[in-house]
Amino acid sequence: MSNVYTILEKAKKSGDLSREEIAALLSISDKDEQQALFDAAYAVKEEHVGKVAYFRGLIECSNLCIKDCYYCGIRRSNKKVERFLMDEEEIFKEAMWAYEAEYGSCVIQSGERQDEEYISMIERVVKRIAEATKGEMGITLSLGEQTEEVYKRWRAAGAHRYLLRIETTHPEIYAKIHPADHSMEVRKACLKSLRRTGYQVGTGVMMGLPGQTMEDLADDILFLKDIDIDMVGMGPYIPHSDTPMGEEIPAYTDEEKTAALKLGLKMIAVTRIVLRDINIAAATALQALEYTGREQGLKCGANVIMPNLTETEFRPKYQLYDNKPCTDENSSMCRGCLSGRIKGIGETIGFNERGDSLHFQKRATE
Ligand code: 5AD
Ligand code: FES
Repeated sequence: MSNVYTILEKAKKSGDLSREEIAALLSISDKDEQQALFDAAYAVKEEHVGKVAYFRGLIECSNLCIKDCYYCGIRRSNKKVERFLMDEEEIFKEAMWAYEAEYGSCVIQSGERQDEEYISMIERVVKRIAEATKGEMGITLSLGEQTEEVYKRWRAAGAHRYLLRIETTHPEIYAKIHPADHSMEVRKACLKSLRRTGYQVGTGVMMGLPGQTMEDLADDILFLKDIDIDMVGMGPYIPHSDTPMGEEIPAYTDEEKTAALKLGLKMIAVTRIVLRDINIAAATALQALEYTGREQGLKCGANVIMPNLTETEFRPKYQLYDNKPCTDENSSMCRGCLSGRIKGIGETIGFNERGDSLHFQKRATE
């Protein structure tokens, strides 16, 4: 097998790496090799998308969820969570806060619901945000599996990006971390519907799942390439103590945290190298492992950050995993804090820009 430096040399010219080459990069443990990987990914990022970080203000508008994923803190069977639902006014207010804070985009995320009441509430609020911002603000939705009809309604209302993580492309791991009625095929079909409906489509996986190998993660990256994805949001799995998986996996030790962070960063780096001009988010979960986790994500190839806009009162109720950062902070604190930290690594922030996926734009003009 070719060594790491040979693979990285090849990666300068093209992202066409084999499964073995991708797995070799993900398996790096040597410090110098790791730095060489991160530098190579940063060079690809600079060349293809520049040293600009785009902000997407994240509105976690409800933790009500019909799904029961074994890893997730807001799964429907977790009776310890106090459920909340922001009203339309609250969501609109937070989106306008993002607009005035010059964020350029917002993301509306919640647990999954497929009832008409919720679907039409989202439709109305998206329309209101699009009208109030004259279509200038990017509106991303992250609201789970829906019918193509629903995706069309929300698209027509003014949303233009959609995030739906596949979580893992390994069928057995998928089956192990989800109840039997959750289907990877449905999720794949949703990703296709979203593409047909004209969204910029984002997906991603969790890294560090039980039994997951570097080859499995290489397959995940090749899946992203195969479906020609526009945006990626992925992060390390972090146990939540009130979930079936979290009951089996004790809270991470410091060493495990470091290892999970490193794997998360390597995945971002290799994804940047393979996919070149897509948008990649530095997931908040990185910061749960280390305070500077998100900046480190940018240094490894990510170009999107999602500062939390959710009102402080709701934040502790939207704990997907333990130790989620910023639960005591408010939106202004996160804006100031993140801006300072990003400038600190020598990047600019794309204030007032939507920061659309260049990959999507190129496909649209082909
Ligand atoms: N650790 C890390 N990420 C998680 N998510 C849910 N639970 C966890 C966890 N315990 C992620 C899933 C989901 C996204 C909204 O949050 O990937 O798609
Ligand atoms: Fe929220 Fe720093 S990003 S306080």
